[in-house]
Amino acid sequence: MKGIILAGGAGSRLYPISLTASKQLQPVYDKPMIYYPLSSLMIGGIKDILLISTPQDLPRFEALLGTGEKWGINISYKVQEKPEGIAQAFLLGKEFIGDDNVTLILGDNIFYGNMQLASIVETFSGGGLIFGYYVKDPERYGVVEFDSSGKVVGIEEKPAAPKSNYCVPGLYIYDNSVIEVAEKLKASERGELEITDVNVHYLNEKKLNVNILRRGIAWLDTGTHSSLLEASDFIATIQARQGLKISCPEEIAFHMNFIDKEQLDDLIKEMPEGEYRLYLEERYKRQDPFEKH
Ligand code: TTP
Repeated sequence: MKGIILAGGAGSRLYPISLTASKQLQPVYDKPMIYYPLSSLMIGGIKDILLISTPQDLPRFEALLGTGEKWGINISYKVQEKPEGIAQAFLLGKEFIGDDNVTLILGDNIFYGNMQLASIVETFSGGGLIFGYYVKDPERYGVVEFDSSGKVVGIEEKPAAPKSNYCVPGLYIYDNSVIEVAEKLKASERGELEITDVNVHYLNEKKLNVNILRRGIAWLDTGTHSSLLEASDFIATIQARQGLKISCPEEIAFHMNFIDKEQLDDLIKEMPEGEYRLYLEERYKRQDPFEKH
């Protein structure tokens, strides 16, 4: 399974803070936003990752994340010249995907909670797999329509009259045919290759699965000033209570066995003195019988 993080876009709702650095480089409490979707892919066991962003921002992501080697993963980079739609990721990523299946995550989507992503990725058997998440304001998103038995019968992009409260978050898993599906798409009225059209295609082919994320999972998006602040508050609250960091790539790399303890210790030594370093230094000092390590 390959992974793509789509982290371009205009970020116009975050003006003026998105003028000098893109939305996905902004902090969500104590980490750059991009750490959160990257961590989701890593927790899903995905090690080959393509990051797509704007011509201005791509070098900044490269400076931040590098090749991924330090975390035991491979990160490559690709420019999206203009924000011409989420589904364009599969055209830009065609070579990178090769003959594999692919998971796409949006660079401003934060997931928290046990989604069983590693087993979902491991058991993925083809077609399309998207998620459904109950929200108050589904009209802002792609919305799933179900029949009375819970079977998916439709998906609509930003409908004025949503047929359910379940929207589609920015995490999508497809088999290799998604490249061909994306190649045949026509731009929508707003000039974008729509991910909803990809999903409707798989639905029509009866190859779309929608995995409902229960209310114990948090899905936050960070596209506006207030939602960015709320996401920071959320992360800060949970971290303060548990003393455990959410989406710390060094920690996840170690837990996923992408790096060993020696490599982790080397990474820590390179960090400046401060809270982040102290956290990782202290993290494995106490015995925890429920931890893998
Ligand atoms: P949006 O939040 O829909 O758009 P945006 O980030 O450009 O922000 P705004 O609406 O305030 O101008 O995009 C969702 C995510 O997908 C975000 O991480 C940006 C990314 N994206 C791209 O990288 N390329 C694209 O062509 C589109 C449409 C989105």
